[in-house]
This record gives sequence, C-alpha cells and structure tokens, in this order.
Amino acid sequence: MGVQQNLRRGEVTIRHLSKSYRLNGAPLPVLKDINLNIRSGETLAIVGASGSGKTTLLRVLAGLEDADAGDVLIDGTAIRGVGAERAVIFQEPRLLPWLTVLDNVGFGLETRGLSRSEARGRAQHYVQLVGLQQFEGAYPRQLSGGMAQRVGIARALAVQPEILLLDEPLGALDAMTKISMQQELARIWRDEDVTTVLVTHDLEEAIYLADRILILPREKEGEPRLIEIDLPRPRDRSAPDFVRHREELLSIFGLH
Ligand SMILES: Nc1ncnc2c1ncn2[C@@H]1O[C@H](COP(=O)(O)OP(=O)(O)OP(=O)(O)O)[C@@H](O)[C@H]1O
Ligand SMILES: [Mg+2]
Repeated sequence: MGVQQNLRRGEVTIRHLSKSYRLNGAPLPVLKDINLNIRSGETLAIVGASGSGKTTLLRVLAGLEDADAGDVLIDGTAIRGVGAERAVIFQEPRLLPWLTVLDNVGFGLETRGLSRSEARGRAQHYVQLVGLQQFEGAYPRQLSGGMAQRVGIARALAVQPEILLLDEPLGALDAMTKISMQQELARIWRDEDVTTVLVTHDLEEAIYLADRILILPREKEGEPRLIEIDLPRPRDRSAPDFVRHREELLSIFGLH
C-alpha cells in the first residue's frame, strides 16, 4: 500500500541509443551511443550546437521517432511509440484556435476518463498555475506569445504526465518575457514533481532551470558531457557560482 505510493516515478534510462538519418543517400549519424539515466523528478537540460541532435533525442524520448539501436526505458519498461505518461511542448504552442484557454487546457481530459466537471476543475487549476485565470474565456488570437506558451504548458501539465519533454519552449519569446517565464517554470517545477527534459540553446536558461545539463558534441566522434548544477533555488544569475557555470559552458563551446 503506502510503499507503492512512495515510489517515485518517471525515471528515464537511455541505453546505447544511436540514430542516423540519410542525406543524399549516405548515412548521417546524429546520435551515437547515448547512455544516460534521468532521475525521477529531475530537470535535465540538453544543449549543443545547431544540428547536434537535441530535437532528434527529444523526439526519440517522446516516441515520435524510432532509434536505430539501443532503447529508452521508463520506470524499467522499454517505450514503444508515444505514451500517456509523456507530454511534449514545442516552440509553438499549437493551440486550437476555436477553443477558449480553458477548453484548450482541458482538451483531451475527458477522453482520458475524467468526467466533464472533473476535467473543468483540473483545467482551471492549471490555468491558475500559469497565472491566466483572468483569461480562461479568451481565445488564442487574443493572447500574446508568452501567454499562448503558458497555455501550452498548462495543457501539457493538465494530463499530469510523469515526464515533460520541451523543445526550446521559450525560444520564440522576447528577452524579458523569457526571463519571467523561466521564473515561472522554476516555480511550477518546484511544485509539480515531474521529470523534465528541456532542450534549449540558451546556456543561461539551462543553468537557471536544470539539475544537470547534457551537452551534445558537435562532432559525432566527441563524447556527450554531463554537468551537475548544484545551486540553491531560486537561482541568482549574478551569483559567482552561476557565473562560473556560465563561463564553463561558454568555454566548452569555444566561446570564451
Ligand atoms: N527528418 C529528418 N531527416 C533527415 N535528417 C534530419 C531529420 N531531422 C533532423 N535531421 C538531421 O539531423 C541532424 C540533427 O538535427 P536536430 O534537429 O536534432 O538538431 P538540433 O540539435 O535540434 O538543432 P537546432 O538547434 O538547430 O534545433 C541535422 O543534421 C539534421 O539535418
Ligand atoms: Mg532543434
């Protein structure tokens, strides 16, 4: 009884994962023998140069793409295709324009077995969590880019996934909205115990949000690197340890 409930879930194991595409008839290796254990409840950021395979890795974890070799296990079981325990957030929130904010967030909950009023209650909870309660009845065209992305995040959380997969979710936002959204994500992830994989090209965002950062190599012969970000939260971007991590990452990318 109790023991079962205390088991934390959403642990991801990546074993000997490799994937190539084909380019002009020749194989194009993208991911080469990736091995990684993503802890339950952890936030893992994935960074790397453009074309290093971040999106490819996320799509394999989502089950939208098959690997050529190796496997992905969730709580010990190999995944096959997409699954209800995983939710994906892309750079564009892809809201349904004919539905209100509340209905976008609640969309799909009834097909998952919730009654109409349960679905509504849960949607309201997550709309509130992302701070949009005043916009429940608004339509997507009436929202700013940051607000629309918040709706997308609420919709993904509303299905209460064990694992949240995000591909540059804040990449299209202006600098100020982005920082306030990073603060919101940090707050939401503190309250929601969900394993999170965040692809970002923003090194500071990775340091601000992640427990660990996976750095994919540009050259396929290179090894992926993992960096632990052991800073207290909420994080202070100007703290010496934060700045030190940023310099470390910049120098890994040869930008320093
Ligand atoms: N569907 C596909 N067919 C063929 N090649 C692909 C496909 N998707 C990705 N690739 C190739 O795989 C490599 C990795 O692409 P991927 O989108 O994973 O990179 P990324 O790290 O997400 O880059 P970015 O930072 O620009 O988003 C690239 O060389 C790309 O050309
Ligand atoms: Mg990408």
